[in-house]
Amino acid sequence: MRIVLLGPQGAGKGTQAQRISEKTGAEHIATGDLVRAEIKSGSELGQKIKEYNDRGDLVPDEIIVEMMRPYLEDADSWILDGFPRNQHQAEALDEMLKEIDAELDAAVAMEAPDDLLVERLSGRRTSESTGRIYHVEYDPPPEDSDVDPGPFVQREDDEAEAIRHRLKIYHDQTEPLKDYYADRGILATVDATQSIPEVTEDILEAVGEKP
Ligand code: AP5
Repeated sequence: MRIVLLGPQGAGKGTQAQRISEKTGAEHIATGDLVRAEIKSGSELGQKIKEYNDRGDLVPDEIIVEMMRPYLEDADSWILDGFPRNQHQAEALDEMLKEIDAELDAAVAMEAPDDLLVERLSGRRTSESTGRIYHVEYDPPPEDSDVDPGPFVQREDDEAEAIRHRLKIYHDQTEPLKDYYADRGILATVDATQSIPEVTEDILEAVGEKP
């Protein structure tokens, strides 16, 4: 399985990619996680990309493409979460796939209105130890530390102004990719306002993985 999850911030790309990865064994490749790990490492590159991340801006394409490349080459089956984010990145992905003689099976567009997204992002908590994503109301962190020891933290870019900025970039630059993949006949659309398990079911069905 080689799929791309497209969708605005808070649609649940990370949440669904984790669940689908657990169910199918496909590798979850999240460019946002790669960016945050690089920043946390304190490297020179991490310091350079921190300002983009914190403002809610896209990190320059050439940096992101080079961060992605080894992951694509290492796994046969993957779910891309947060990449591609614009036409240039979509073309770079096509080039990388050609080089490794692979094809994209589907791009899944996860649809939800902006109001709901802001509410989801404001309540998001991420486990610092496991990377698992939770929501204070819709999917609360477990109280049992054997399940997930946490701590459960808020992301630096989940602040109102950065959220609005990220959503604008999504509508301007990422949303047009729906047409890019629709023209190739591999776009599927899923209603991301449903419950977390319902969205998982719909995505698995859309990509032909539902048993
Ligand atoms: P990234 O980490 O990709 O962030 P994002 O695009 O802002 O997406 P989010 O993680 O906010 O949303 P999501 O859809 O994954 O939602 P989630 O599952 O967490 O990127 C961060 C930064 O890195 C970018 O701003 C940029 O600087 C850089 N970057 C990354 N990729 C790049 C690229 N390709 N090019 C350039 N720069 C790049 O869910 C959100 C919340 O909702 C959670 O609390 C969850 O529990 C809850 N939730 C999810 N689904 C449901 C549901 N169905 N019902 C109720 N609650 C739900």
